[in-house]
Amino acid sequence: MSKRYTITAALPYTNGPIHIGHLAGVYVPADIYARYKRLTGNDVAFICGSDEHGVPITIKAKKEGVTPQDIVDKYHAIIKKSFVDFGITFDNYSRTSAKIHHDTASEFFKTLNDKNEFIEEVTEQLYDEEANQFLADRFVTGTCPKCSNEEAYGDQCENCGSSLNATDLINPKSAITGNVPTLKETKHWFLPLNKHEDFLKEWILKGHKKDWKPNVYGQVKSWIDDGLRPRAVTRDLDWGIPVPAPGGEGKVLYVWFDAPIGYISATKEWAAQEGKNWEPYWKDENTKLVHFIGKDNIVFHCIIFPAMLKAEGSYILPDNVPANEFLNLEGKKLSTSKNWAVWLPDYLEDFPNQQDVLRYALTANAPESKDNDFTWKDFQARNNNELVAIFGNFINRVVVLTNKYYDGIVPEASEFSEVDIETLATVKAYPSVIESSIERYRFREASQELMNLARLGNKYLADEEPWKLIKTDDVRTKTIMFVALQIASALATLCEPFLPFTSIKLKGILNTNENSWSDISTKDTLITSGHQIGKGELLFSKIEDKTIQEQLDKLEASKKANDAANKEIEPQKDLINFDDFTKLDMRVGTIIEAEKMPKTKKLLILKVDTGIDTRTIVSGIAESFTPEEVIGKQVTVLVNLAPRALRGVESEGMILMTETPEGKLVFVNPDTTVNSGLQIS
Ligand code: MF3
Ligand code: ZN
Repeated sequence: MSKRYTITAALPYTNGPIHIGHLAGVYVPADIYARYKRLTGNDVAFICGSDEHGVPITIKAKKEGVTPQDIVDKYHAIIKKSFVDFGITFDNYSRTSAKIHHDTASEFFKTLNDKNEFIEEVTEQLYDEEANQFLADRFVTGTCPKCSNEEAYGDQCENCGSSLNATDLINPKSAITGNVPTLKETKHWFLPLNKHEDFLKEWILKGHKKDWKPNVYGQVKSWIDDGLRPRAVTRDLDWGIPVPAPGGEGKVLYVWFDAPIGYISATKEWAAQEGKNWEPYWKDENTKLVHFIGKDNIVFHCIIFPAMLKAEGSYILPDNVPANEFLNLEGKKLSTSKNWAVWLPDYLEDFPNQQDVLRYALTANAPESKDNDFTWKDFQARNNNELVAIFGNFINRVVVLTNKYYDGIVPEASEFSEVDIETLATVKAYPSVIESSIERYRFREASQELMNLARLGNKYLADEEPWKLIKTDDVRTKTIMFVALQIASALATLCEPFLPFTSIKLKGILNTNENSWSDISTKDTLITSGHQIGKGELLFSKIEDKTIQEQLDKLEASKKANDAANKEIEPQKDLINFDDFTKLDMRVGTIIEAEKMPKTKKLLILKVDTGIDTRTIVSGIAESFTPEEVIGKQVTVLVNLAPRALRGVESEGMILMTETPEGKLVFVNPDTTVNSGLQIS
């Protein structure tokens, strides 16, 4: 039954490119869903755009000495291109700096204001005297009152997910100057979420929302159970949408007020281009609205935006909000600021035309019900063991044999064996198998079902062995190849949501594009006898260990470069006079023995020839050097440091070291070999 779907994917912040975490968590599942809904004959609006307001963008602009508009122009173009490159089929990818969005968000605000849905109130807010600025959202950090995370932001704690007001933070600190903020009065518009508590309870807790993913339902329930409070929807900033109300001068809408309205503006923009009416996509009760987001966006999409839509009164509410958990990379949290990420433009440069490999690896290992880890080894295994060895291998055998035996012409089938009949029936069942996973937002499972169909094809060929029968039974061989070609055709259609580029290639090879999704379960013949197929090309190719190692090295290298660039230079210490300096007795020493301090990770016990004597020095360098490596090394030693006992071993001096940004210790030593005991001055 055909239905109307409005499918949204979280508008990405426009302060950097997109990485694999974004793709895995939001855009690939959303695209699979949208493609699948289109393939099954629905009316789909798949909507996204750049989220161009908000504090991170202004902070980045300040840091780079450019305007926020410069920043969003640059990354809007980069992000938009990445989505096209990876086959994410948005019907519209808009942006929140567009006029249509400013108009739509302003109108929305005015409507709520006119309906007295806001509380206007002067309250004391955090203020940075030095920067002359109010501190909200990412401009302020402090300790989370709920979980004690010391790096919570003014609007949200990323550790426990709580949504906060800036004044909730314990020990707040300005992100601009590092100063402790003062309090200053200012007027804001508040959305009284408490007023909507009953409706939200009814809608989410008592309604049919039990079919929401447990992680989403659980989070929302705990927020509601905690009690909802009014939330400021305006800010004292100059980057954003001006507050369209008297007294709103110099203030803008809170980014989380305007951004979700971006879904509506983007739909309007698209409808205008297509000559359609946008309203049914947002106002017709029969439309199914689905928001694809990451877990840090749950409160905004399940509580605040629905409360806004309800307060406005003419909109539908989301049917589902299938939020994903986070993807880690090689065991560590993905981080833009630490440059611990695989950026999509970089991936494409290193793996040209291999978008489907990444789409597949991310789907097969998607963080659907818990945080998950992306590793390059797993990526390689998904490619080599599944895409190449199963899917690609099956297609290759079918295409090569059809060309070899029949010049690429689909042969005539004679009598079907029991296995043939069973196999063809199984193929027919696949659309509904995959559908049932997709309908429950289980995309990993769906991708594995697709792979199972390719497995079925491989097994069929391996069991029937047409390459043997061709010598003895021409008629049977033709039937086998006919069946195998039916499986290949089914794959060409059913793989489209997951492997869109492969689907196009495969349809090209099979020289057919005529089967719809539902044809796979209804038609008896997907590719007919006498049809000419092409010669074919390999769909996937093996990824070697060397390529994977290069990616791992690249990741480490870019992290190190980033750490080095961000390393803060310690300020100079207080001045000392010459006498202070001459009190230090530093000499060249030679390490003559070294052993690990038992039961410690860091300590080495060294015997050092100082020229004066041979003495014991305990040094915390065991994580950077093995004992063998340091024996014979010349080092700078502070010899007149008062002895002290470390783990019961008396240490008589100190070796001078420095630490590289990567955390490795290196000796500060003479660059030529000299006699032990020489003084350093
Ligand atoms: N920009 C937000 C983020 O990246 C998501 C915004 S989603 C929308 O976390 F609802 F505001 F559009
Ligand atoms: Zn917290």
